[in-house]
Amino acid sequence: MPKLTRLMAVAMLFLLQACASVLSEAEQRQVAGKTYVITGASSGIGRGTALRLAALHANVVLAARRTDLLREVAEQAQAAGGTAMVATVDVANPADMQRLAETAATRFGRIDVWINNAGVGAIGNFEAIPIADHARVVDVNLKGVIYGSHAALRQFKLQGSGTLINIGSVESVVPQAYHASYSATKAAVLALGRALNEELRLAGAKTITVSTVMPFATDTPFFEHAANYSGGTPRMPAMDDPAEAVDAIVYASLYPREEVPVGWKGHGAMVGHWLAPDITESVSANVAHKYQFDTAPPAPPTSGSLHAPQPNGRGVDGGVRERMERENAAAKKGK
Ligand SMILES: NC(=O)c1ccc[n+]([C@@H]2O[C@H](COP(=O)([O-])OP(=O)(O)OC[C@H]3O[C@@H](n4cnc5c(N)ncnc54)[C@H](OP(=O)(O)O)[C@@H]3O)[C@@H](O)[C@H]2O)c1
Repeated sequence: MPKLTRLMAVAMLFLLQACASVLSEAEQRQVAGKTYVITGASSGIGRGTALRLAALHANVVLAARRTDLLREVAEQAQAAGGTAMVATVDVANPADMQRLAETAATRFGRIDVWINNAGVGAIGNFEAIPIADHARVVDVNLKGVIYGSHAALRQFKLQGSGTLINIGSVESVVPQAYHASYSATKAAVLALGRALNEELRLAGAKTITVSTVMPFATDTPFFEHAANYSGGTPRMPAMDDPAEAVDAIVYASLYPREEVPVGWKGHGAMVGHWLAPDITESVSANVAHKYQFDTAPPAPPTSGSLHAPQPNGRGVDGGVRERMERENAAAKKGK
């Protein structure tokens, strides 16, 4: 087979995987009674994942900083048929993560799946973003995942099995201009998972696995919570619905794979980067520049929820797609 045809065939297979994230009824029943720890469960993808798992009768341990919101999610989770526990944590504090593992294991006897989902972003020219914000992105997105992975793997070794799911991003593979430190942390999260899987293989720990789930741009409160020094409202084209990432995470909890791109756009970006990395990175940067600097209405600088939680941005859906439509319509009218 000529090389190009072979490449196309592999690319098609890869894209087909994008469709394989919906569980059958029998598979859904496998979730019932399992214990999931979910960091960043107060909003966005984490909140959506917790509620989906609860509806499948899982035990969900809900961790984040906003205790009031976690209690609200816990009530909804209980009403949906799950069993919920709330844990107020800052993932950047290793003692909090250790305590989270201990309290979850004590309450439910074991931890089947640990999802390191909490994350924050910083948008803007690299040198315009204060160094304290870059540092905090690393503290939460990378050190937080290391602390969570450490606590989870120790518990998995004690109990003999477990699934660790770290939430990376399409930016784990395709770094994005104006998200430099965020992209760096997400690439590191992928590297962490790959290295850990090798350690587990060498230790003969066949029933412990690490998956990195890599969502495409997703419409969640992430953009309201991100630090933003770009001068414009946070924007991103062709956003996925949060349900795409939720489906992929729940599926990966039953069928762990080392790398799990989310949806056809996530798979497409990976294939594009594999075939033509420089072109894919340039296209992605050009699009980010156009949306963030050429067309965004003005917005004041903010450190978002990096250093302290903020009350807004409470749901699963972030309303970014709707806001962008309103902004685009207003811009057209103003012309
Ligand atoms: N949305 C996207 O386009 C996208 C794309 C790819 C990957 N992701 C990743 O998906 C994950 C979830 O993000 P999201 O989109 O669902 O955004 P989100 O709604 O802002 O969710 C982030 C969650 O992390 C929690 N969190 C932030 N800092 C924390 C800290 N120091 N300690 C504990 N919890 C903390 C937040 O809760 P509190 O404020 O209550 O602590 C919130 O529950 C992140 O890892 C993000 O990088 C998102």
